[in-house]
Amino acid sequence: MNLIVAADRNWAIGKGGDLIYSIPEDMKYFRRMTQGKTVVMGRKTLESFPGGKPLPKRVNVVLSSNPDYAPEGTVSVHNYDELFAEIAKYPEDDVMLIGGGRLYTDLAKYCRRAYITLIDAETEGVDTFIPNFDNLDGWSLESVSEPLETGGYTIRFATYLNESPEVYGK
Ligand SMILES: NC(=O)c1ccc[n+]([C@@H]2O[C@H](COP(=O)([O-])OP(=O)(O)OC[C@H]3O[C@@H](n4cnc5c(N)ncnc54)[C@H](OP(=O)(O)O)[C@@H]3O)[C@@H](O)[C@H]2O)c1
Repeated sequence: MNLIVAADRNWAIGKGGDLIYSIPEDMKYFRRMTQGKTVVMGRKTLESFPGGKPLPKRVNVVLSSNPDYAPEGTVSVHNYDELFAEIAKYPEDDVMLIGGGRLYTDLAKYCRRAYITLIDAETEGVDTFIPNFDNLDGWSLESVSEPLETGGYTIRFATYLNESPEVYGK
């Protein structure tokens, strides 16, 4: 499994149940990196999409502790045992963790690569964060793009590598 996320200078990723920044170039990158793949998300991230609808052209696996939660067009799982049994059906590189804060924080150690859009900005009143991948045990910066000025922001597409991802259940 790999993860993809957009984070600002303070590693903030969300505010009031939504994204903090809306950057079309980053959305394009996200689409390119996830289309045709299996995307894994928490219930709150699914609810943040337009109309609460799953993403087209992707298998949407959604985690909720509510046993009755089964939105149309998704595969719902209710704990990490069920999640890992589900994603074992796909090649590791075809599974992308797409949020939110809770899932990134819990599951990063099982991921090999983190595709992080680094947004050179900061905002007050944010409430959802990811860990600082520059200081996270086992992770190192593998590559980073030149800065791109877009939509009023400066962003860079970074890839972080976890040399030894943990295997779930071991
Ligand atoms: N910048 C980015 O790239 C990016 C990407 C994605 C999301 N976001 C932002 O992140 C925020 C949402 O993140 P979040 O941390 O609040 O929520 P989240 O991780 O999307 O979802 C949390 C929910 O997932 C379910 N869940 C999590 N762990 C579980 C477990 N072990 N077993 C069963 N269910 C589990 C629970 O649902 P139930 O309550 O139903 O049990 C929990 O309330 C939003 O602001 C969103 O816009 C940003």
